[in-house]
Order: sequence, then C-alpha cells, then structure tokens
Amino acid sequence: MMKEGIDTLTFAKRLKYATRVNHDSVDSLVMQAEPFANADRYGQFLRLQHVFHLSMAPLYQQASLQALFPGLAQLGNVAAVESDLRNLGLSTEVDTELLASITNAYQAIGWLYCCEGSNMGAAFLYKETQKLQFDAGHGAKHLAAHPEGRAAHWRNFVAQLDALTLTQEQEALAIQGAKEAFAFYKKTLTHFF
Ligand code: HEM
Repeated sequence: MMKEGIDTLTFAKRLKYATRVNHDSVDSLVMQAEPFANADRYGQFLRLQHVFHLSMAPLYQQASLQALFPGLAQLGNVAAVESDLRNLGLSTEVDTELLASITNAYQAIGWLYCCEGSNMGAAFLYKETQKLQFDAGHGAKHLAAHPEGRAAHWRNFVAQLDALTLTQEQEALAIQGAKEAFAFYKKTLTHFF
C-alpha cells in the first residue's frame, strides 16, 4: 500500500483497493473454468453472465441511482447477454432463485462499480471469444467495447463515482456492496461450472 494510506485515495481507488483480492480470486476462478475452451463452456459462461447482469438490471432503472450517475439508464448489459444467448441457440429463461436482489441504495453503488468495471477486464475475454468465432455481431456482443471505447467509458464512470459525497457509513456500505457483488459472481460461477 502507498505510504499516504488509503484515506488519501479517491473513492474509486478505495473501491479498487478494498476489492482487489475479491477481484483476483474471481479472475482466477473464471480462468480455471475454461469458459473459452469450446462453445458449450462459453454457453455456460453466458448463463453466468446472464444471472449477474439480470440481477443488476433493476439498478440501471432506479431513479435515485440515475440521479447520481447521469446516463445510467442507457447502460446495463442484460439485453446484449440475451442476444448472445440467442446467437448460441440457448434459452434466455433463468431460474429466478439464482438472482440477487440489491435493496440498499449505497450497497447498490458498489454493485454498479463491480459490474461497470468488469467491462475493463472484458477486453481480454472478448479476444478469447474470437478464437471460437464469436464477436460483437454474433455471440460476444456483451463483451464488446462501448461505442466511445472501454477506457473513456470507464473514466467517465470513475469521475461519477468520485463526484459522490458519501458519509463514512454510506461509503462502507458501498464497499460492502462491491464485495457482495464479487461474492455473488463467485457463487453463481460455482453453480454453473
Ligand atoms: C478472467 C476474468 C477476468 C479478467 C482476466 C479480468 C481482468 C481485469 C483487468 C486486466 C482489469 C484492469 C483493466 C484496466 O484497468 O485497464 C480489470 C478491472 C476490473 N475488473 Fe476484471 N477481470 C476478470 C473478471 C472480472 C469479473 C467477473 C468482474 C466482476 C464481476 C470484474 C470486475 C472488475 C472491476 C470492477 C475492475 C475495475 C478495477 C478498477 O480499476 O477499479 N472482473 N479486470
């Protein structure tokens, strides 16, 4: 850790620092699952992504969060995941018992961080799908970059996170939410693989 300590970091950097272990464990679990070994495994990965993004979907529609994150209503990845599932000939039906429900508005900020940030690592995953002949137009739409580019999209979201003025308690809830989002992803991954 840097010598100044965690309090001098921006909020987005504090989220990153607080969840780095959670991220790296999810990253290695995904790789161990070999989701790009063949189309069947990629289909299982799509089911995992579907449950995660479907759980997130109500947050992108929530007015209180849209007020904090202008443009939020245009984000969210569930439609793209469903298009990918259909491209593989898979059903978009889901066992609703697998879905998460996020009810605390501050925890929701952490879930959004986890979900939006996952698009950064997705650059690597997107490349892997091309070995299976999938791409933005067919089967890997949800891993494709945003029209303005991944980095620009992420910078914009990070600026929105850093513009929030949360109390210590609210920030602690956001960090807890981000950790829960990674834990939920892990649990769902284990279910499908
Ligand atoms: C094999 C799977 C994964 C790999 C290889 C991977 C890799 C990466 C890499 C390289 C970055 C940094 C990108 C950059 O700053 O340029 C990143 C960022 C991030 N990833 Fe992943 N990732 C994976 C899966 C996930 C998953 C499943 C989630 C969420 C459920 C996730 C959430 C995040 C978040 C929130 C960030 C932003 C970190 C920050 O800068 O604050 N990643 N990932």
